[in-house]
Amino acid sequence: MLALIAFGAAILVAVYRYVILPVFVSPLSKIPAACPTSSLSPAWILWTRWRGRENATVLAAHERLGPLVRLGPNEISVNCVNGGIRTVYTGGFEKGEWYSNAFSAYGGVHNMFSMEKRDVHSARKRMISNVYAKSSLQASPALREISETVLCRRMLPRIATAPGGILEAYELFSAVTLDVVTAYIFGLEQGSNFTDHAEVGAKWLHDYKSRQPYLFWIQEMPNVFQLFSKLGLGQWLIPEWVGEKSADIEEQCLEWCDAAEAAVVSGKAAESARHHPTVYGQLRSMVKKQEKLDKMDTEKQNDRLTQKQRLDIASEMLDHLAAGFDTSGITLTYLAWELSRPHNAAIQSALREELLTLNPPFSMTEVEPSTPLPSAKDIDDLPLLHAVVMETLRLHAAIPGGQPRITPANTTLGPPGAEVHGIPAGVRVVSAAHSLHRNSEVFPEPGLWRPKRWLDNEGGVDCGGEKARWFWAFGSGGRMCVGSNLAVLEIKSTVAAIWSNFETTIEDDAGMEHVDGYLAEPRGSPQGSFLRLRCEKI
Ligand code: HEM
Ligand SMILES: *[C@@H]1O[C@H](CO)[C@@H](O)[C@H](O)[C@H]1NC(C)=O
Ligand SMILES: *[C@@H]1O[C@H](CO)[C@@H](O)[C@H](O)[C@H]1NC(C)=O
Ligand SMILES: *[C@@H]1O[C@H](CO)[C@@H](O)[C@H](O)[C@H]1NC(C)=O
Repeated sequence: MLALIAFGAAILVAVYRYVILPVFVSPLSKIPAACPTSSLSPAWILWTRWRGRENATVLAAHERLGPLVRLGPNEISVNCVNGGIRTVYTGGFEKGEWYSNAFSAYGGVHNMFSMEKRDVHSARKRMISNVYAKSSLQASPALREISETVLCRRMLPRIATAPGGILEAYELFSAVTLDVVTAYIFGLEQGSNFTDHAEVGAKWLHDYKSRQPYLFWIQEMPNVFQLFSKLGLGQWLIPEWVGEKSADIEEQCLEWCDAAEAAVVSGKAAESARHHPTVYGQLRSMVKKQEKLDKMDTEKQNDRLTQKQRLDIASEMLDHLAAGFDTSGITLTYLAWELSRPHNAAIQSALREELLTLNPPFSMTEVEPSTPLPSAKDIDDLPLLHAVVMETLRLHAAIPGGQPRITPANTTLGPPGAEVHGIPAGVRVVSAAHSLHRNSEVFPEPGLWRPKRWLDNEGGVDCGGEKARWFWAFGSGGRMCVGSNLAVLEIKSTVAAIWSNFETTIEDDAGMEHVDGYLAEPRGSPQGSFLRLRCEKI
């Protein structure tokens, strides 16, 4: 009898906990559900993610139901600025396991991307962010050497000598962006050289990317994955080779770090811009300074890194090169695609005309490869180039997917007048560039690639106001992209170098549908091609 009562009570508690509370009582019940089952179970949103249908599905839900949408019993999507990304991201809501499980390296060593707690993260960000400031980049002798070497000595010759003038753009741009980013991090002489060694670069890209689909288990179903691992069945979900490839990538990054370390210790890093490891050197000196403060100068100082310091720095550097290369390569690939499509031929010509006003021009002179480059500042000031880059970042955001954060206690979300109060702590809240960038009141006909929307009638730049508030390619707030200035500078220089010298048309673009995920590289065609561009020297 007693057992029966206990059983009945347990059922009642469960019904309350899993049905009544989430569907009727929780403040989240005031938020319209994207799917009728959303308030009861996360199955629908997990299934949507697993199938790779999230961007289109979540956008459609917002168009139907407004700026606040419930995706699961404990997850909401927010698609507005006030009461939305302002509150969550500028307001500094913390990241959760979604990042820390997936993006730490070397057996759980954390970096800026993966750190959960605000204070730990901002201490790290303060140590590094100055090397990515626009003024530091424009004044950097190391970066000038990098642009000249990677863009003029490696990239332009590779394009000029491509068999039949035809190039696989995603492979080219991934190699170029990896060379630029590793050169800025570790020093040009210590970084990668994948633009010149196309096969090595393509293999690296393939190995790097092939692991990506398996992140689903670590990010979306960590408990299931842990359970499978405990039962010795982890490989059913994530095959062993994934871990092996990750270990190879970590090993490669350590080699780059050790080469940068050798340049620092030998003094070469200080003498020569080609050896100067800008980001590595910055973090290294901050780590050493911290050590000195901690030890209060009582112990003997040693300029060598401890093994812990070595791995802390390596995890951070791996994070920057990973965050930096694929995003910029994807952006360049879509930019090249749009510029080369037949209906955009006039924009390509107008852009070339603008680029040819640069003085000195960004022209490829085979005889004398050491003519000076136009300044980063002059390139940055070209309005149509700016508009073309902004429009590509808007329509083809490299990270269009949700950026999850966790609510603190008693959160209020939603646009003014339609707020929902009292949202409890621990709810996953996401906003996504894909949805924010398709608000037709701010970006009329949002599905069209139209650089002009970023220009005024006189052809000057017009990027302010509502457009700036809704533009979210780099996120916002304390966890915003630290490398956005480097990304824009590198993308603009690459575009200037190519379209000052070549005319491009499309040979094959069957692979250009985006992958629907957090990161949105081109899906690739069944033949394994992404974007084959035909390049003719002008
Ligand atoms: C077009 C190129 C790029 C795009 C679209 C992009 C986009 C983003 C976005 C959306 C975030 C926030 C992600 C989140 O919170 O989920 C982010 C963070 C970050 N990005 Fe970028 N990024 C680009 C290039 C770069 C480059 C070149 C670097 C460095 C070399 C870089 C380094 C980072 C780092 C370290 C973070 C973490 C920042 C933090 O948590 O404080 N990114 N990026
Ligand atoms: C990059 O590779 C090319 C071609 O093998 C070589 O000439 C050049 O010295 C290499 N550069 C660096 C910095 O390793
Ligand atoms: C929750 O926040 C609202 C306003 O944002 C405030 O009026 C209310 O007192 C808070 N409740 C608790 C329990 O802190
Ligand atoms: C969004 O995902 C759909 C598939 O669901 C895909 O066709 C489309 O290219 C993606 N768009 C972007 C901009 O990521």
